[in-house]
Amino acid sequence: MKALILSGGTGSRLRPLTYTGAKQLIPVANKPILYYAIEAIRDAGITDIGVIVGDTREEIRRALGDGKEWGVKISYIEQDAPRGLAHAVKISESFIAGDDFLMFLGDNLVRDGVTDFVQRFRDNKPSSLILLSRVSDPQRFGVAELENGRVKRLIEKPKVPPSDLALVGVYLFDNRIFEAVNAIKPSWRNELEITDAIQYLVDHGHLVDSHVIDGWWKDTGKSEDVLEANRMMLEYIESNVSGQVDADSQVIGRAVIAEGAQIINSTIRGPVMIASGAKIVNSYVGPFTSISRGVHIVASEVENSIILEDTHIEDIQTRIDNSLIGKNVQISRIRERPRALHFVLGDNSRAEVQ
Ligand code: TTP
Repeated sequence: MKALILSGGTGSRLRPLTYTGAKQLIPVANKPILYYAIEAIRDAGITDIGVIVGDTREEIRRALGDGKEWGVKISYIEQDAPRGLAHAVKISESFIAGDDFLMFLGDNLVRDGVTDFVQRFRDNKPSSLILLSRVSDPQRFGVAELENGRVKRLIEKPKVPPSDLALVGVYLFDNRIFEAVNAIKPSWRNELEITDAIQYLVDHGHLVDSHVIDGWWKDTGKSEDVLEANRMMLEYIESNVSGQVDADSQVIGRAVIAEGAQIINSTIRGPVMIASGAKIVNSYVGPFTSISRGVHIVASEVENSIILEDTHIEDIQTRIDNSLIGKNVQISRIRERPRALHFVLGDNSRAEVQ
């Protein structure tokens, strides 16, 4: 069996971060989202992985290389434009070369992995097996209507949902999916939809089975989702303080403070992750915060946030909460008069002030 990870796309809902980087590489608990997918696939015993790449191809290649680091073999498949999930399948036919395959959306996180799911496909040999999760707001998702566990109908964002079973971004297919993706037509948004391809399988009498997961999963398409994923993953960390914590600082609760990080006269209240080269001075870093390499936080308070590489935050009097801050951002206090807010923000930035 092979695997396909979809790491192309536009990432428009995560702008401005996605103007300069791939959304699949945004770190959650200081690890790129995409690495969790590679690990889940490897743990399910699949080592031959095709990664769909688009505009961010160079960055994704740099981050994954040939996969040796994970003990897998990675091939890259170029998608000229984000023409839909089923289009990504279509252009992968020669890579899949007759095998069964697992398809994993590169911005999805499935906490408990996909091993059981892959095993069930191997045991039952349906044409397709889709992963479902019960949600409270099915109107926002692709929703499955089942009959004795078999998928009868898939509906994209239904106004009146036939069930609360949302499609998770992980699917298993045998070779018949290629007949489907070659037969369907682009949707109103001009994409080849995977829901249409799966519906084609159902309509042509092929068995589409489903597996309802009870563990946590997240599609990290929006900033709130990334922050929620960060909170979830930080729940599972074990303390490891290898960095330098001076005598005037205190670390309360679970914290990972990497070697080369410095905590000076500060309070760290976990769960928190602080990467190498980060420096926290006269500050407070509160629960559910992930701090990347080279970040400086001076005379400020940060909680429930993700702060990316080389960002400097200095002398901010109000606590920074529930924030996703990109790389190399400077947030500081103006000292001259008139005292005013002074912004240089990229397109689609969001700043909320008191
Ligand atoms: P989406 O989140 O559905 O699409 P997107 O990345 O274009 O985001 P937005 O709606 O915010 O603009 O995509 C799910 C995953 O699949 C994501 O990792 C990107 C990837 N993808 C492709 O690789 N090729 C595609 O043609 C599409 C649509 C998505």
